[in-house]
Amino acid sequence: MAVLPILHYPDPRLRKPAAPVTQFGAALQRVVSDMFETMYKAPGIGLAAPQVNLAQRIVVIDISRECDEPRTFINPEILERQGKDVMEEGCLSVPDTYETVERASWIKVRAQDVDGQFFELACEGLLAVCVQHEIDHLDGKLFVDRLSTLKRSRIRRKFEKAQRLAL
Ligand code: NI
Repeated sequence: MAVLPILHYPDPRLRKPAAPVTQFGAALQRVVSDMFETMYKAPGIGLAAPQVNLAQRIVVIDISRECDEPRTFINPEILERQGKDVMEEGCLSVPDTYETVERASWIKVRAQDVDGQFFELACEGLLAVCVQHEIDHLDGKLFVDRLSTLKRSRIRRKFEKAQRLAL
């Protein structure tokens, strides 16, 4: 197990669409374990592989308070969306930034587990938000893309400045 470095906005590697996972086995199992360890350490409630510089369609989520409900979504796809809801979101790749985002309030998602078995899951509330947020990462999208241009450019300036100071 290892804690992986998390890429930060506006790193262009976060913009690369991730490729479907085709190999299920020990290597994938290891990546998923590392992603959970990285997410719990951060701490966060969701992490997508592109955030740790792996351009593969892998998402890990645990929205439980006790960190005992790990969920793995390999090659996730949203089959159905219903309703609209707004929630304040943050992202491990956009630290210390929280903004209100509108998303579907209910979704049905299909994915594979770490062994390649397909499953479907109906999600609402925080889980629905989290799944949609993480699937966006797989498509190279960040929650800041769903904000107004003004808000997004303010956040971008903040992170570009942070990057310069870190040199
Ligand atoms: Ni995120």
